[in-house]
Amino acid sequence: MKPAFSLHNRSDVYVGPAAEILPEVLPAARVVVVSDATIDRLYPGLLAPYEKVLIGRGESAKTLQTVEGIYRRFIELGVDRKSFVLAVGGGIVTDVAGFAAATYMRGIGFGFVSTTLLGQIDASVGGKNGVNVDGYKNMAGSFTQPCFVICDPAMLRSLPDREFRAGLAEAVKAAVIADAALFARLEEARFEVLRGDAALLSGVVSAAVGVKAAIVGRDERETGERRKLNLGHTLAHAIEKCSDRMNHGEAVAVGTVLIADAAVRLGVLAPAARDRIRGVLAHLGFDLTPPVPVARLLREVGKDKKSEAGVLHIVLPTGIGSCEVRPMTCDAFAALFATE
Ligand code: GLY
Repeated sequence: MKPAFSLHNRSDVYVGPAAEILPEVLPAARVVVVSDATIDRLYPGLLAPYEKVLIGRGESAKTLQTVEGIYRRFIELGVDRKSFVLAVGGGIVTDVAGFAAATYMRGIGFGFVSTTLLGQIDASVGGKNGVNVDGYKNMAGSFTQPCFVICDPAMLRSLPDREFRAGLAEAVKAAVIADAALFARLEEARFEVLRGDAALLSGVVSAAVGVKAAIVGRDERETGERRKLNLGHTLAHAIEKCSDRMNHGEAVAVGTVLIADAAVRLGVLAPAARDRIRGVLAHLGFDLTPPVPVARLLREVGKDKKSEAGVLHIVLPTGIGSCEVRPMTCDAFAALFATE
């Protein structure tokens, strides 16, 4: 099968059945799988041929301690520079395993089978990997491209509704920043239909990955345009830091609505477009009420890693399918919410 996208001719993204694609893309090397116990139980056949290192689940596993545990198992197993790491799982597994592989013995080859919607649409594609430090998101990591990413929409059937919905927030994000046609598709689709319609879902995954692949192809190391992929994320990271009520996708949905409101106040987004952004997220079932007061979120924002010498690069939607990145101080950003 041909890749749907190829990043810099060194990271191929496939959208299709993992069991068929994997044998075609794995190198002739010793393969060690990094995954978690749930994936191991759900896909025993896929993982059976390989030595396995299983890590914990959830954001609390995204730490340097987990990475150190992987190094230790690699050393015990005799993993060497010619070995290949296959990470199979959601965004936590691919972020952590990608970082471990990118740094073990100064870097060995790795590829991903991405098993969640959030992972397929965002986390696994584009070469960012890393861990949280003291609750601050992605404070240690690298830009290292996986040799391949396989996004198998059939694997999304086993996801709980809540996790599936979380991935849709990143699909809406991709649509708002660069794909008006995808946005319209999401406006028309009902949540239950998206869950069950394989062709529709495959189209949504491909379109959203296409947005990301195009942007990363132009700006791999986030010196400019890649910042657009952080739409809604400045406030989302603050939400995740201040409250455990929301997962990443749910926090991104709230962050996107808050920044769309701010863009209207700034005069760069029409109220009708803001209403469509809020409308599609509500229609997909997101709770759009911030879990803590916005003033508390703003206090956290100054500590966001995207703040460079006190300057944030804020992504403002300017329409459906367009946005701009505007540098502003933390104080100027806070002032956008003075009426909240
Ligand atoms: N998740 C945003 C990025 O990969 O740049």
